[in-house]
Amino acid sequence: MTTLNLVETEAFIDGLWVQGDKTFDVLNPADGTVIAKVADLGEAETTLAIDAAHRAFPAWAARTAKERGAILRKWSDLMLAHADDLARLMTAEQGKPLAEAKGEVVYGAAFIDWFAEEAKRAYGHTIPTPMPGKRLASIKQPIGVCAAIAPWNFPIAMITRKVGPALAAGCTVVVKPAAETPLCALAMARLAIEAGVPSGVLNVVTTTNSSAVGKVLCDDGRVRKLSFTGSTPIGKVLYEQCAGTMKKLSLELGGNAPFIVFDDADLEAAVDGAIASKYRNTGQTCVCANRLLVQSGIHDAFVARLAEKVAALRVGPGTEQGVQIGPLINDKALCKVDRLVTDAIRDGAKVLTGGDAHGLGGLFYQPTVLVDARPDMALFQEEIFGPVAPIVKFETEAEAIELANATPFGLAAYFYSRDVGRCWRLAEKIEAGMVGINEGLISTEVAPFGGVKESGLGREGASEGLEEYLETKYLCFGGVG
Ligand code: SIN
Repeated sequence: MTTLNLVETEAFIDGLWVQGDKTFDVLNPADGTVIAKVADLGEAETTLAIDAAHRAFPAWAARTAKERGAILRKWSDLMLAHADDLARLMTAEQGKPLAEAKGEVVYGAAFIDWFAEEAKRAYGHTIPTPMPGKRLASIKQPIGVCAAIAPWNFPIAMITRKVGPALAAGCTVVVKPAAETPLCALAMARLAIEAGVPSGVLNVVTTTNSSAVGKVLCDDGRVRKLSFTGSTPIGKVLYEQCAGTMKKLSLELGGNAPFIVFDDADLEAAVDGAIASKYRNTGQTCVCANRLLVQSGIHDAFVARLAEKVAALRVGPGTEQGVQIGPLINDKALCKVDRLVTDAIRDGAKVLTGGDAHGLGGLFYQPTVLVDARPDMALFQEEIFGPVAPIVKFETEAEAIELANATPFGLAAYFYSRDVGRCWRLAEKIEAGMVGINEGLISTEVAPFGGVKESGLGREGASEGLEEYLETKYLCFGGVG
């Protein structure tokens, strides 16, 4: 086994490493071994973290955007300098192939770097006055202490997408990483200290008691903003819990992305886009294609080529050279994927490749392509979060739009067509926060990421991402003359 660097096992509060009374095991999903025992904190320590963030806020907010930006840039540079160590840590606790993990470190660092610059452009306005003797303006101010509840599927990038803009804006943060992936979050805290992030500005509360810690973060009136990435049911609970203190919320929740291939698509590009979108991170992203809708004229050629390429994907531990598909995160995820596929096959879907757990055992599942799926099947309605592509055949553009929008979710959507008119029509009619047009990979720090309908609230990344951590204050100057 390779030695892991940057391993911290204590939580991080007010610039200090905190052990607490209990620990929990962090497992390697590729083989079930225990990688580390991490501090398992509770409500009292969460309150201490909020206290620290509250104390640190005035001084951090008072620094200039340029000063904060310089510290953030150093943090991002340190991430890149330690990209190999961070990637190995990520593969160990999350399972994704090393190359993909390294890609996430670069993606994660880009959020910090981008917001380090963007903070300098948190412009207010001067407003032409409608009243002689008065002058009007608006200014932008950091919202205050923020809570960031992060998921296990992107253990670094989903933290930096929240913490980057928060710190850049002048806010302080309490991060609660997922219990499956606390090591990346703690390694990031260590690099933050090295970069010069002051005590209390960034705090990391590790825990297995997510609901209790989440409730403290929601109930505390000093926390003015909560950002959460995770499932829609948990997002709804947090939404309700935050009502009592009227917090600003960013909720990046579940998706059910349609991936539509029209007869006039470039076949190879569509197949490659489907693989990139569907099998990234072993199918465990909120923006993964969940339902493939393929027009009848291209259907047979598309599914044959897709199945051929998917069958060739290499499955194994993420540390092995050339592996493209790692393990699923845990037994619950494996059981869900297995149930969705088994039910679909029972109800008439046909397996072109895969369709079962992988011969490697453990949490590995075969990359799967299913045809003759139907919109009423559970795997068309639920987020699969695994390497399974169910395909439905359709005839007309209107039918494709209707199928695509027949879901309470609206995070990402994708379609392939070479007809410019159709591209515009679809882009406008599809109910999603993000649309990939002849493109299967859409995420970047410079574009607004987020969903509509039950996929959430707010946007992360881009200038919209900074706005989420700012309040607008209107100033009215009287007696001007
Ligand atoms: C997610 O799955 O929540 C994020 C995926 C991405 O940033 O591309």
